[in-house]
Amino acid sequence: MIKIDQQEILEENYSVLISEEKIHQRLVELGNELVETYAGEIPILIGVLNGGFVFLADLIRYINIDCEIDFIRISSYGDEKESSGHIKVLKPLSADIKGRHVVVVEDIVDSGLSVQFLLKMLSAFEPSSLRVATLLRKRSRIKIDLKIDFIGFDIDDKYVIGYGLDDRQMKRNLRAIYIVDHQGR
Ligand code: IMP
Ligand code: MG
Repeated sequence: MIKIDQQEILEENYSVLISEEKIHQRLVELGNELVETYAGEIPILIGVLNGGFVFLADLIRYINIDCEIDFIRISSYGDEKESSGHIKVLKPLSADIKGRHVVVVEDIVDSGLSVQFLLKMLSAFEPSSLRVATLLRKRSRIKIDLKIDFIGFDIDDKYVIGYGLDDRQMKRNLRAIYIVDHQGR
């Protein structure tokens, strides 16, 4: 793997939680899980913007069967760190998912409210199957009973950034996942 020094966009209060190598090792396994689940089918992976775009882009390159992609954008947070629970669709789907095998691809499941909203909304289009893949899950935070089918890593309840996840819309371009400590800012 080519090493790129990201020192200029790293800050003192960021510490590595999951390295680039660990992420890619896990993507190999997740890719295989998806291949086993969808053998003989052409699933459609729906990336949840903005945070899910890096995970989706890398994940599809570990899925060795035909697949399609689309994106949806929802809002619940604004620039806040806590979910408001009020969710709006900011960019609807383009694809017709009726009768399709759908995988919602999220960066992180925190309270679970966003995924719950997406599952309810997407099931109305009558897909053949509807599953969820998330790179990260904050297990202790989930408020509701929610089945997540493909999980990269279970993490503690800390705000994380990098690999698609933002710190006030920035830092999505970091190649690893970091914990950020906002205290004292
Ligand atoms: P939920 O509805 O509370 O599960 O929120 C999920 C969404 O909030 C994720 O898809 C992220 O976009 C955002 N989010 C939650 N926790 C974090 C975090 O630690 N870092 C960056 N974004 C987060
Ligand atoms: Mg998200």
